[in-house]
Amino acid sequence: MSKYDVIFIGSGPGGYVGAIRTAQLGMKTAIIEKYDTLGGTCLNVGCIPSKALLDSSEHYHNAAHSFQEHGIELSNLSADIDQMIARKDKVVEQTCQGVKFLMDKNNIDVHHGIGSFVDKNTVKVTDSEGKETTLEGKHIVIATGSKPNYFPGMEPDKDRIITSTEALALKEIPKRMIVIGGGVIGLELGSVYARLGTQVEVVEFASSIIPTMDGTMGKELMKVLKKLKIKFNMEHRVQKVENTGKGVKVTALNKKDEEVSFEADYCLVSVGRKPYTEGLGLENVGIQLTDRGQINVDDNLHTGVGNIYAIGDVVRGAMLAHKAEEEGVFVAEKIAGQIPHINYNLIPGVVYTWPEVASVGKTEEQLKEEGRAIKVGSFPIKALGRARASMDIQGLVKIIADKETDEILGMHIIGARAADLIMEGVVAMEYRASAEDIARISHPHPTYSEAVKEAAMAATEDRAMHI
Ligand code: FAD
Ligand code: NAI
Repeated sequence: MSKYDVIFIGSGPGGYVGAIRTAQLGMKTAIIEKYDTLGGTCLNVGCIPSKALLDSSEHYHNAAHSFQEHGIELSNLSADIDQMIARKDKVVEQTCQGVKFLMDKNNIDVHHGIGSFVDKNTVKVTDSEGKETTLEGKHIVIATGSKPNYFPGMEPDKDRIITSTEALALKEIPKRMIVIGGGVIGLELGSVYARLGTQVEVVEFASSIIPTMDGTMGKELMKVLKKLKIKFNMEHRVQKVENTGKGVKVTALNKKDEEVSFEADYCLVSVGRKPYTEGLGLENVGIQLTDRGQINVDDNLHTGVGNIYAIGDVVRGAMLAHKAEEEGVFVAEKIAGQIPHINYNLIPGVVYTWPEVASVGKTEEQLKEEGRAIKVGSFPIKALGRARASMDIQGLVKIIADKETDEILGMHIIGARAADLIMEGVVAMEYRASAEDIARISHPHPTYSEAVKEAAMAATEDRAMHI
């Protein structure tokens, strides 16, 4: 039996990053992955492939809609979905191979197969041919991630009723697509197909899209997605989705409780993800699940059983790759006897539509509910010289600060490159900066970052200059 200081079950961003950290700290480390490739959801069927298709489709959309204005003439423009998918597959392959390289470089043993607890220190790995290997670990970290969720009546058949995984590998550009759920996956993958010419229609249960983000972001994002001709059916409760052979029929109840139906070639079910614990043998060690199916952990990500920890999508909190990574490092350092820390309030969230939406800290709605006295400064992207030069004028930066102390409590951006711009807010908030601090820092001209400075000036004494 092979013996390890730490065994990670699952090779997504939580597991593989945690494994690198334990190896760096001198611990003998193994990682177990049931699929043939490493990298988990994020690298194989999540973050990386979705961004590859988002970028390809955005290039196509720009070529079709804004190149002419820039003085670039193209003729016979067409979108080749097979080539887009093939390029995406190549990016995924290279990225997954990169993780294998990192495992080898750090002397981490990789075992392919399903990891299942025998007891608190023993895990059985069963490979695809049924061969079993037993590993012993002083510490074991569960990093088994999540799977797409769905509700009764909308079970994906992976043919016409699909999840994000199938939407990342379609063999045709659909004429029409229904997207159930106006959250991150629905709007990112909906954008991919809308840019390629698909008539995308969102059916959403809540009254706003991206409902967990600041309300202004949802409103602004809806405006720009409507320009992409995406249709929105808000406050609709989906009752049933049927595969009609050549397409789908979706039946829902609108806010007046009237039955309405939609027809399309495909239906993308994107109503959230659920923690994945199947086959782990948790019953053999007595680990309990919460009523949401998550592994229960304390503030140290400890399960309360032996030396077993759990991280990433399988535990509470945002289902994000960088959150899983931070938890992987946290657990590794905890096991090594260090005193790590994660500031969960400062885990940024990004929606990779175009323009992007990015957010850190609290929303205006949350702060109002807490009864906190706040001031809000906003600045529109279209007032920036850089934005006009590049023809990316949509969006705004919104900074929320404490009314008395001026400490920044939240930053919310919709605009070109928001995913990168948000880091100014993250760093500022980590060091508990005030809006005045950002207002007084020189920002390069002409850049999108000037909107952050202007929003900070707007938050402090309403003194934005270029508006
Ligand atoms: P996962 O990445 O899910 O990895 C878990 C691994 O464990 C899997 O490889 C699984 O096969 C393996 N496993 C499970 N059970 C066992 C077992 N018993 N034995 C062995 N192996 C097992 N997040 C972002 O931050 N940014 C994005 O842009 C982004 N885009 C996304 C786009 C899509 C379409 C999707 C679906 C998700 C996206 N996410 C994004 C979310 C991100 O993918 C997850 O938050 C992240 O992958 C979670 O990491 P994890 O390590 O917890 O689990
Ligand atoms: P989500 O939680 O972002 O959005 C789900 C949406 O579906 C919500 O707006 C919700 O109100 C709606 N909904 C729920 N039940 C419904 C019903 N019965 N009918 C109609 N609408 C319904 O979940 P999504 O988009 O599936 O993504 C899952 C997770 O994956 C995200 O929460 C995120 O953590 C992660 N992810 C992150 C990305 C990023 O960081 N850019 C990209 C893609 C996924």
